[in-house]
Amino acid sequence: MNENVMVMIPEEDVVKRIKELGDEITRDYKGKTIHLVCILKGAAFFATELAKRIKVPVKMDFMATSSYGQNSVSSGEIQITKELDLDPKDQDVLVVEDIIDSGHTLNFLEGYFKDKGVKSVKLCALLDKPDRREVIVNASYIGFSIPDKFVVGYGLDYAQKYRNLPYIATVEVE
Ligand code: IMP
Ligand code: MG
Repeated sequence: MNENVMVMIPEEDVVKRIKELGDEITRDYKGKTIHLVCILKGAAFFATELAKRIKVPVKMDFMATSSYGQNSVSSGEIQITKELDLDPKDQDVLVVEDIIDSGHTLNFLEGYFKDKGVKSVKLCALLDKPDRREVIVNASYIGFSIPDKFVVGYGLDYAQKYRNLPYIATVEVE
């Protein structure tokens, strides 16, 4: 099968937008320490680039979730497949995700961190597909809103491939 990969958001636009988000987050968290939680694997590239653009102190933690069983359709049931290393209690948590699709993952994570007794929790995603939303998500920071197309690159994969592309691309399987 042929996989047709086409650029949707060029590298320079992604880099510029991440810098803008870093500036905005820096302003919003003035005088605070950010407890940044990167959702593996998709957000790994975005979260590290974003962290480098933030000018207040940042702690980094990583967790992994899964919502998809065998199919590529979200089951709505989120499982934690890699636990946190650091205790987020009393911290100003910033959850960094690659993309908001159905919304189930970030909707679940917001509640998950509130239950852990955090001081605050805000949500950040590089990409958003608003047309696909099934549950409400209150994200404070969004890189780009995109149409309902399957995308790869900058951490996002198709069958574990294309995460290393330095831009966002659509992939169509022929
Ligand atoms: P949600 O829980 O439906 O919002 O799903 C979010 C997760 O679905 C993301 O973290 C991605 O892993 C995955 N996902 C959703 N859309 C795409 C896409 O277009 N490309 C790659 N992964 C996607
Ligand atoms: Mg993901």
